[in-house]
Amino acid sequence: MDLKTKALSEGVPIIKDGTLEHLKGLIIKNSYRNILELGTAVGYSAIEMARIDPLIHIDTIERDKERYKEALRNIADEHLQDQIDVYLEDIRELKLWHDYDLIFIDAAKAHYKEYLEMTIDHLVPYGTIVFDNIAFHGFVKDNSLTHNRHTLAMVKKMQAFLDYVQEDKRFDIMLNEDIGDGILEVRRKKS
Ligand SMILES: C[S@@+](CC[C@H](N)C(=O)[O-])C[C@H]1O[C@@H](n2cnc3c(N)ncnc32)[C@H](O)[C@@H]1O
Repeated sequence: MDLKTKALSEGVPIIKDGTLEHLKGLIIKNSYRNILELGTAVGYSAIEMARIDPLIHIDTIERDKERYKEALRNIADEHLQDQIDVYLEDIRELKLWHDYDLIFIDAAKAHYKEYLEMTIDHLVPYGTIVFDNIAFHGFVKDNSLTHNRHTLAMVKKMQAFLDYVQEDKRFDIMLNEDIGDGILEVRRKKS
């Protein structure tokens, strides 16, 4: 069974095909080499990105010990351990030492603003931060689709985050609700 089929059959949340294709296109078009990923799960998206080019290096963060261990096994099976470093850590405790061309944010949606602020100074000037799942199954566009209190609270947080980045003069943003479950690309405004 391939990694994608196994992850999906075990209920591990992984990147949607459309989002992955878009991400790969971005990496190829811009020759991005240094990537930070927040949210490894079992290593599927990191492996797919690393396969694009042997010069690509990925630091990826996961707090769940079992997923972390499975990601290490999956990466070793693909002989990509020289290209991908997995860190068992809570993102909120993270200290960043390097700068990155691409930062792929695929962890807790409720903390996207926090993740943006903690990573933006580690994005190279021509780099991109990609946030996944910003459409949140269509609920962000139309929150009458759900009456679940927890979901509504999450939707409101996501709407507040999107308002925040849209109004912030530091960023050029591109919102695309039709790719996967919706993505947001953030770049530094050219001065
Ligand atoms: C959607 S999954 C990542 C999927 C992966 N990028 C892929 O497409 O193959 C999100 C992961 O983020 C992890 N996560 C959520 N909050 C986190 C945090 N604060 N610190 C570290 N990992 C976190 C979860 O445990 C989960 O495995």
